[in-house]
Formats: sequence, structure tokens, C-alpha cells
Amino acid sequence: MPGIVVIGTQWGDEGKGKIIDYLSKDADAVVRFQGGNNAGHTVVTKEHKFQFHLIPSGILNPDIINVIGNGVVIDLEELVNEIDDLHSKKITTSNLKISPNSHLVMPYHRILDEARENLLGNMKIGTTKRGIGPSYSDKASRSGIRMQDLLNVKIFKKKLEFVLKEKNAILTKIYNLPPLDFNDMLEKFKYLSKKIGDYVLDTSKLINDALDEGKKVIFEGAQGTFLDIDYGTYPFVTSSSTVAASACIGSGIGPTRIDKIIGVTKAYTTRVGQGPLPTEIKGKLGTMLREKGSEYGATTGRPRRCGWLDTVLLKYASRINSITFLALTKLDVLSFLNSIKICNSYSYNDNYYKELPYNQNIFSEVSPLYKKFSGWEEEISEVRNFNDLPKEAKKYIRRIEDEVKVPIRLVSVGPERDQMIKFEESIW
Ligand code: GDP
Ligand code: IMO
Ligand code: MG
Repeated sequence: MPGIVVIGTQWGDEGKGKIIDYLSKDADAVVRFQGGNNAGHTVVTKEHKFQFHLIPSGILNPDIINVIGNGVVIDLEELVNEIDDLHSKKITTSNLKISPNSHLVMPYHRILDEARENLLGNMKIGTTKRGIGPSYSDKASRSGIRMQDLLNVKIFKKKLEFVLKEKNAILTKIYNLPPLDFNDMLEKFKYLSKKIGDYVLDTSKLINDALDEGKKVIFEGAQGTFLDIDYGTYPFVTSSSTVAASACIGSGIGPTRIDKIIGVTKAYTTRVGQGPLPTEIKGKLGTMLREKGSEYGATTGRPRRCGWLDTVLLKYASRINSITFLALTKLDVLSFLNSIKICNSYSYNDNYYKELPYNQNIFSEVSPLYKKFSGWEEEISEVRNFNDLPKEAKKYIRRIEDEVKVPIRLVSVGPERDQMIKFEESIW
């Protein structure tokens, strides 16, 4: 022990990559436990800006193990690209390990994801079109192909033969698309398996052994609480469990191995894709936040919708994830605003909500009720101690803690590694 889970408390892109890279300097292992290359986790160093989609965000520390757990769905071409890119930057991946039970995102998954979105038209989810939903659907319907299948050509061939028959029927008959060629796909995957095979081992045992030895393991969540398939804004969610409990299932450990849960939250809110966002700011201010915060998707480049911080959501995220403390990111983006708002309740049809209404129709229609704060007229990206922050920024942080009833133990004031305000208590 200890095991620490780091998850997003909003709709993804909270800055998980930065926080995990920061914590990984004191860790022994980082484990990605769900999602696929719909994720885009940014780590900025002096030399490079890395965007990890499948590779865990601890990979820049060569002394620690980085695991892609069984709960992740893997697009092999993307993974090989990421590995090659790291090698071109002289970063080793010999410390990368992949679960044999992870599922593959196949070419037909990507095509079906896009075809389905096109068919849905106005009703679309706004997915990343990376084949994530179709891959998890196949996992649940037991027609998925796993990493371990890939390592046995006979089994891979047999499974692919069956699945491709079904997928080609769907592609041609439902979506009017050309069928995929079995032999082409087989050859491609034989090549990819040679590049990946050596990374595969029993990662559940590796992680449990590390915890037994008292090593520090970080479990890296992708997406965020409100994109969770059960607890998010369904159907405008991703297809995996993004909440802290998923760390256990997605990496092969039991719940008692988790000591702390860190919820990462932006100092405001963003969302990519469709679905409700009660505090969305339209017009000039929304555009200003987007530009100042560089709010463009790390995976698809799509502009992110921006809004004020919403503590109704954070309270819910705290409950669903049992958050120990929050890591607040991008506080620097709020500098130089005359006033800043926090939404701490909603109204709808003369009703007043301090908790998230479970009824999605109501949540889609609520009006946010705000507390207004004075802004601060100074740059804070060089501040490293809480006490050196402008008093308005301190007040903003303390108010979030009061509303959510969870302490904030890390504050990020810029994209770079050292742009972090630490508190006295140890994270571990
Ligand atoms: P993730 O998916 O949760 O890892 O987040 P993303 O990497 O998709 O998006 C976060 C973006 O904000 C990235 O471009 C980061 O480099 C950047 N970032 C992270 N923390 C801070 C911060 O404190 N201030 C600023 N200005 N940018 C930050
Ligand atoms: P990270 O890990 C932000 C969103 C998509 C879409 C919905 C479903 O970088 O925080 P999917 O392709 O998963 O079926 O799309 O989920 N989405 C994300 N939004 N950050 C992410 O990951 C996301 N991964 C998926 O935009 O609304
Ligand atoms: Mg992201």
C-alpha cells in the first residue's frame, strides 16, 4: 500500500494527466484502468507537450511501472503510434505492461461508431469516433477480441472470422458501407501483435505484488464522473465506468487496496460533445475562457464548451467516488476577471435543488443559481504557496471546500510541471 485513485469530477479534461505526472515522481506504478484512446491526457515538460491517449501518464518516469489494465480498450495502431512517438523522443517504454484481458478496438468498431453517429443525426452523442462504444458493447456481448487472443494466431483467426461475418453484414446491410477484408485485417494484426506481444503479462498480479511490498500505486482514471455510464448524463456519456470504484475492476485489485481518492476538478467547467451543461457560458465570456484556457479537445481538437464551476456536480462526484481531497486545476485561467461565479444550486419550475436531480429531463432544463465573487487582477502562474495567492483567489478556494465539504490539497496554476501550489499535508 498505498493505492491512490485519480479521477475526473466533471466531464473530462480536468487536467488528470498533469496531476498524475506530478504525483508519479513519488510513485512506483501508474495504472490506467478504463477508457481507450477517447482520452487525451496532456503532460507538459520543458522539452515537449505530450498527449497520452492510451499510455499511462507516468511513462515519463523511467523508474516506475506503467500498466494498461484489463478495463482499457486498446486500439493497437494508436498504441503503436504512441510507443513509436515516445521512442522518437528517447523515452523508454520498457516499463510499460499490458493486461492480457484488455479488449481490442478493431477497425470495424471505429467505422461503426462513426456510422451510428451519422445515423443519429441531431440525436448524436458527439463521440470521439474512436470506436469506444462498439468495443465495450462487444465486450459485454462476449464477442470482443482480447489482447491474449491476439497472441495466439489460431484463436485470433477463429474469433475474427466469426465476428467479421457479423460486422460485415451490419456494415453492408444497415449502413450501406463496403465490407472489410478478412485477410488484410489478419495480416495487419499479425504485424501489430509482434510489436506489442512483449509488453503483455499478468498485470493484476504485478499490481497486487507491488501493493504487498508497500509500493505506491496510482490508478489513473480517464474521462470524468459525468461521462460515467451509470452515474453520468446518460446517454451523453462514454461506454465505461469512469468512477473510482472502476479502478478495482479495471486493474484486478480488491476495494480494500485503495487508500485515497483524488478528484481532479477545473476551476471552471468544460464539456466536449452533446448533453446538458447547466452553467454553460455563451457569448464573449465563454469564448474568452476557451481561448485563455486553450479549451480544445486533446483527442479530436473540438472546441470545448465552457461554464462556471458547479458545486452541485462536485458534491455528487464526491459522493459517488468517496473523494478524499480535490486537486483544483487551471485557477490561473480565471485571473483578471471582474467577477467569478460558483453555481451551488439549481431552480426548475419553482423547485429548488441543492443536490443533482436524478431525473435527466429536469437536469437538462435547470437554471443555475450563482454565488458571485470578486476576481483578482494579477497573474498567479508563478505563485507556489497558498498564502501568496491574492485574497480573492484564496476565498474562492475556501468557498469550494465549504460547498463540497472536501479539502483541496493541490492547486495547479499553469500547464507546466512545476506550476503547482502545494499544501502542508503529504499527498501520500
Ligand atoms: P485530462 O484529460 O484530464 O488529462 O486533461 P487534458 O490534458 O485533456 O486538458 C487539460 C489541459 O489543460 C491541457 O492542455 C493541460 O496542459 C492544461 N492544464 C493543466 N493544468 C493546467 C493549469 O493549471 N493551468 C493551465 N493554464 N493549463 C493547465
Ligand atoms: P479525458 O480522459 C472529454 C466524451 C466525448 C463524448 C462522450 C462519448 O481526456 O478526460 P466516446 O468517444 O467516449 O464514446 O464519446 O464522451 N469524451 C470525453 N470528453 N475528455 C475525455 O477524456 C473524453 N472521452 C470521451 O466527447 O461527449
Ligand atoms: Mg483530456
